[in-house]
Amino acid sequence: MTILIEQIENGAQAEEQKTLTITNDLVLDGGFAEPKEASNDGFLAPEINAFGHSFRDYDAESQRQKTVEEFYRLNHIHQTYDFVKRKREEYGKLDKIEMSIWECCELLNDVIDESDPDLDEPQIEHLLQTAEAIRKDYPDEDWLHLTGLIHDLGKVLLHPSFGGLPQWAVVGDTHPLGCAFDESIVHHKYFEGNPDYHNPAYNTKCGIYSEGCGLDNVMITWGHDDYMYLVAKENKTTLPPAALFIIRYHSFYPLHRCGAYTHLMNEQDKESMKWLKIFNKYDLYSKSKVRIDVEEVKPYYMSLIEKYFPAKLRW
Ligand SMILES: [Fe+2]
Ligand SMILES: [Fe+2]
Repeated sequence: MTILIEQIENGAQAEEQKTLTITNDLVLDGGFAEPKEASNDGFLAPEINAFGHSFRDYDAESQRQKTVEEFYRLNHIHQTYDFVKRKREEYGKLDKIEMSIWECCELLNDVIDESDPDLDEPQIEHLLQTAEAIRKDYPDEDWLHLTGLIHDLGKVLLHPSFGGLPQWAVVGDTHPLGCAFDESIVHHKYFEGNPDYHNPAYNTKCGIYSEGCGLDNVMITWGHDDYMYLVAKENKTTLPPAALFIIRYHSFYPLHRCGAYTHLMNEQDKESMKWLKIFNKYDLYSKSKVRIDVEEVKPYYMSLIEKYFPAKLRW
């Protein structure tokens, strides 16, 4: 299958395209097929940041650039180590609500992700498009289908019943706190307004971490990725480590696009990274206008939810 998505970049990243062929023929230690890069007949998709979209309307595009830049200005100033620590403590209590995964999918339909104006269909369609696209190419990796379905559920943080967090605390690219802000982070200049930038404990290459400490031990900007990771982990999902890795780091573009912060990864992270790179192609591709009949595919995803999650989760 070859999919070509034309993009105009709206972050600091340059436009580029990469051909990746995805095959099922290698098996990793965990029993999951390993992705393999190849040349022909590939899945062709761009490397872009979390705001990547296709634009031909240049006025709309310039307005969008301003909106995105303002978003990152706020994000870079307010996302400090202490802010994330507080949010993790607060939301880690999981005392907001009890509901099933599917109920959360439906709740997410009430939420608008302003960072994603091209996503004019309900969020549940984006989730199902991602999941179904993966399912088509990786029919045996049911854990990856379910990961596609749930990866953005943390966006319920925007919902009033979850505290109605501002966009800069829910969506957009993510990066570590507690060590230097890598130059590859989009709109890097705004970090000058972040107190961590001037804190000598936090502004060296490793900061408070050590080489190879593992990303699990690294504080990442607060948002839908980290929240859904906490929800899945604390509710004792039986999804494999690669699924949790995808959920927590799918917006960590400085890492999986630019190779920043790889010195903090451990061996398990490096294994899981192969899956994250695959996943991101589908996450972006699914922003095409493929319509999904929700009722038709729902029974399949209900069976996966039952396999990997309790009936009700604490959120
Ligand atoms: Fe996301
Ligand atoms: Fe997504």
